[in-house]
Amino acid sequence: MLPEQRDILWTFLTIMFTLFAFYAFINVVKHCRERENVSTTFWGAIFGGFLFVMFLEAVHMFGLNQQEQLSFFFGKMVLTIFLLLLTWGIFFKSMEIENQSPPIIRAFFWWTTISVLLAGYSNWLPQQRSDPPPKATAFVGEITMEEYAEMGRVIIFGTEQIAGQKAIGKGQCPLCHTFDAGDNIGRCPNLFGVGTRGLERVKEDRYKTSPVAVGENEPKSNIIKGAPDQIPDEYRRAGAPGFDGMNAEDYIRESMMCPSCYVVKGYGKAGDTVSPMPVISKPPISLNNVEVNAVIAYLQSYNEPGDYSKVTVPLPSADDGPTETAAEEEGGEAPLFVTGSEPIEEIVNVLGCPLCHTIPGIEGAMGELGPKLHEKINAPKRIKDPRYKGKATNTKEYVRESILNPSAFLVMNEEENELYPDGLMPQDFKHKLSVDAIDKLVDFISQTEG
Ligand code: HEC
Ligand code: HEC
Repeated sequence: MLPEQRDILWTFLTIMFTLFAFYAFINVVKHCRERENVSTTFWGAIFGGFLFVMFLEAVHMFGLNQQEQLSFFFGKMVLTIFLLLLTWGIFFKSMEIENQSPPIIRAFFWWTTISVLLAGYSNWLPQQRSDPPPKATAFVGEITMEEYAEMGRVIIFGTEQIAGQKAIGKGQCPLCHTFDAGDNIGRCPNLFGVGTRGLERVKEDRYKTSPVAVGENEPKSNIIKGAPDQIPDEYRRAGAPGFDGMNAEDYIRESMMCPSCYVVKGYGKAGDTVSPMPVISKPPISLNNVEVNAVIAYLQSYNEPGDYSKVTVPLPSADDGPTETAAEEEGGEAPLFVTGSEPIEEIVNVLGCPLCHTIPGIEGAMGELGPKLHEKINAPKRIKDPRYKGKATNTKEYVRESILNPSAFLVMNEEENELYPDGLMPQDFKHKLSVDAIDKLVDFISQTEG
């Protein structure tokens, strides 16, 4: 919960209570004045005191966040108001004033009870949280391996679920990968156990030669395969040896920075020589060295929660490029939602469409897991396809349907001569998009052509 996040109701109630204390003060003083043998100073001081305390509490309330407001209200404020009412009652009784509670008091009581009940009820309801994702890149001073692995988890999965949606972090990995044993969406390897199985991959004969040989440069990422000692400076592990000394950590790092250095069997294109996975250290994902290592720390430890003995990456130190991370904090954090007021490139990039689709007009959108988005030409063809059972009758409707309900029609992958897998394209865009955003997206995608 952010400190600046407050519940307007609590603040409002405190102000009302203060006004009420003021009213009580005036009322008591008035009664005292009307009577001979009553000390105005004595009672005035008591109710003035109440007013003062109430006022201080109201001021204090402004500085609290929602959680604190709640406990302060029920802890201190309710007690004060109760004491005030009690004293007031005693005052009336001792003065033997007939009409103890004027209508306004009864109305106030009724109103307060209802508000407190309502407030309690609304706070008891599950809250829709609106905190922005914590900055995965922010770290100050010393951190523990547990915290570092947690940072990796946030980069992969984002923060907590928002209103039941599957969250996703800036690394975007869950768009393609699954992480639980036995869970599979078909097109990308399950990453369960990758922390250890990496080394077995390196020992395969296939690793040494395909698609590029060890020691050769992989052109798409500009990384020398199987050479941890030649990974770009800032990402290199300290004292990394060449191929013979490659460890599981090096394999994961290479998988992320050079997906096409080695393509897991059955998951690549062109006879498993090209990986559809984006280079994680380059745009659009652009993880820096600290973030790549955090992800590795998470992957090396998540199979056995709480056990960090298998983690080999070093903890980040202050000279790991704090300026870089500071820059990331400003603009690099991928927000989870789009409103529709952003430029179309931003909408498309934030939603991750370029990771799977090649989209004309969007720079760097070269994804290969889904069809090329040439919808101006494709959409009319799909609607005429005898297999098509969807509801769309024109291009825009087809594009809208494809985004909101990807399973309505599965496109044929001409290269592989099979249908694209169902369930690979995220099914939850309908929960992530505002009406404006979806309209803008549909307008744009409907016009794309090769
Ligand atoms: C657009 C889809 C996509 C995204 C996003 C993606 N990957 Fe991948 N990844 C793949 C595919 C496809 C493969 C299999 C082909 C290959 O070996 O490169 C793969 C392979 C891997 C491997 C090797 C797995 C093995 O069993 O050897 C690792 C490790 C990996 N990805 C990690 C990540 C991490 C970490 C992220 C997020 C920072 C990520 N990937 C994001 C598609 C993706
Ligand atoms: C994880 C990979 C992935 C992501 C991310 C993704 N898609 Fe897809 N998309 C696919 C696959 C696979 C298909 C083909 C299967 C199908 O039709 O459902 C597809 C199909 C489509 C189609 C139908 C294409 C045609 O020619 O008929 C459209 C349109 C589309 N996606 C738009 C989008 C948009 C817009 C986004 C971003 C908001 C997006 N996709 C994000 C994988 C993805």
